[in-house]
Amino acid sequence: MPESRCLQGIWSSPWIFIFAASGSAVGLGNIWKFPYVLGENGGGAFLVVYCLCLLLVGLPVLIAEVALGRTVRSNPIDTVNDLSERRIVHPAWVLVPWLAGITGFLILTFYSVIAGWSIAYLDRAITGGFDNITQVGASSMFNELLATPSEMLLWHSVFMVLVVLTVGQSVTRGLSAVVRILLPVLVVTLLLLACYSMMIGNMSEALNFMFRWSWQNITFDVVLAAVGLALFSLSVGMGAMFAYGAYMSKRMSIARACSIVVGVDLLVALLAGLVIFPLVFSFDIDVQAGSSLTFVSLPIIFGNLLGGQFFAGVFFLLLVVAALTSAISMLELFVAWLHEKFYIARLKAALLMGMAVWFVGIAVLLSLNHWDSKLMFGLNLFELLDKFTSLILLPVGAILLSVLVAWFIPRPMLQNEMITKQANHFQWWYKTLKYISIPAMIVITLAGWIGV
Ligand code: TRP
Repeated sequence: MPESRCLQGIWSSPWIFIFAASGSAVGLGNIWKFPYVLGENGGGAFLVVYCLCLLLVGLPVLIAEVALGRTVRSNPIDTVNDLSERRIVHPAWVLVPWLAGITGFLILTFYSVIAGWSIAYLDRAITGGFDNITQVGASSMFNELLATPSEMLLWHSVFMVLVVLTVGQSVTRGLSAVVRILLPVLVVTLLLLACYSMMIGNMSEALNFMFRWSWQNITFDVVLAAVGLALFSLSVGMGAMFAYGAYMSKRMSIARACSIVVGVDLLVALLAGLVIFPLVFSFDIDVQAGSSLTFVSLPIIFGNLLGGQFFAGVFFLLLVVAALTSAISMLELFVAWLHEKFYIARLKAALLMGMAVWFVGIAVLLSLNHWDSKLMFGLNLFELLDKFTSLILLPVGAILLSVLVAWFIPRPMLQNEMITKQANHFQWWYKTLKYISIPAMIVITLAGWIGV
């Protein structure tokens, strides 16, 4: 008997899920965000906490999302609606997928602006804009970009058009071909760049910074940042992986597939760190520079490297594609829902959502220059959205989703999904989710908020 499938189709081979989910996970979060959050939070200590968060929180929550998606083969909103109609869960749970969808939407509004910076840098890279650039030159190039809303608007719009066109297609068809080639190329390019960066930069200080453990550096803020980044980087807490799970073949073990995704995600983040930090230390760039870290340090390597123009072009092109494969997963929840519930064509649904994101994105990019007023807690709109989504919405979404799966969805439903002929990871996963991931997320999130 053919297996049941979702209206959006099914991945053409079991392995494609791994590529698609890794495509969603690997994005600006790994290459842009991971190094700067590591820098802001003191290096090695953060890395250890981050790995623990990936294993004990990220992985179980990822499995929970994917398993629920595959069990019901529908979009998150209809799924919870259906469960509540069948009186399996309370109707109030319907708020959770809505919250998840809104989180994705909000993340995309600033994600697209940063992806726009990547396109702007791709443009500079191919036109030789980094040639012999100095550190001062690189900083002012980035600051100039932030001060020019018209250019940011152009690239933000280009990126959103790409997102809409890609999400408008069926993800189960278009995406897989791209990701299958992209991911290996990305890893190899990063590896080459990391070797080069360690050769010309200050390798020992970078390794010392990234891998040296020290207790004093661990505070609740660090732990909260690590949980937030782990969830962000694995794309969990907002239903994107839920949707991808719905298109996954039954032949694949969920636990195994998700472990591979976590491994790839961590590998790419570490490689990005190894590219950036040797330069940061040898050029005396402030490790705490925040969101500008990547965009200031990378042009310096490329501008002073033999064949740098070529490498720069490849690198920023990959960054844009990696951002694109992540961005589409943020819109997938609402697009799949509009398509399944109201029979709106995918392209139309994508256009509708994309336009809304584009509008809010304009306010976000203006908050970096003309409207650079501190809205709350001394943060502008851009910073506020970044912090609000990764420190509040994602953890809350992930907690609620995990509680739903661990405590309210009937156990046999999940057990069927997790126990395959080849593997039985159910008990291990179920207990970790219930007794480690959920309590840890609750304690860490609350403690982070009240500023322990
Ligand atoms: N994981 C992506 C990155 O690292 C970002 C992303 C894609 C995401 N989909 C998401 C983050 C869903 C949170 C939720 O860049």
